[in-house]
Amino acid sequence: MKLSIGISEKNLNQVATLLTSTLSDEMVLYVKTRNFHWNVSGESFMELHKLFEGQYNELEKAIDEVAERIGKLGRNTIGTMKEFTENSRLKETPGSYPAQKDMLKQLLADHESLITHLRADVDECADNLKDAGTADFLTGLMEKHETMAWILRRYLN
Ligand SMILES: [Fe+2]
Repeated sequence: MKLSIGISEKNLNQVATLLTSTLSDEMVLYVKTRNFHWNVSGESFMELHKLFEGQYNELEKAIDEVAERIGKLGRNTIGTMKEFTENSRLKETPGSYPAQKDMLKQLLADHESLITHLRADVDECADNLKDAGTADFLTGLMEKHETMAWILRRYLN
């Protein structure tokens, strides 16, 4: 059934495409954070093991919200690992088991990359696609990533 919420079909498609990229990025970052939760070792093992758990739980909530936002715009949400990796702008590094500091650096780089994409997407949704709701939603999501990035950065300073 077609939506009648004051946003054109063309714009709804574009917003859904943009949200699909974000969803895929979130999935890759979620899996990477879980991977590091499992594989971290060394002096601060328990500290980082718990830190990563807290962050992947945050990411899991975000993933659900992004996926359901796509549904609210009347579009199908991708839900296979194949599609997530194909649509993600973040890269996975199979077979790599970095040291603690490199784990923190890699996660921070991914959060910063996501924040940069989200900032551009907020403007795109508000200015060009006339979707204030998604712009607001993505602003909140960007702030969550800014908090996670801040915490990771503190370990590296
Ligand atoms: Fe665990």
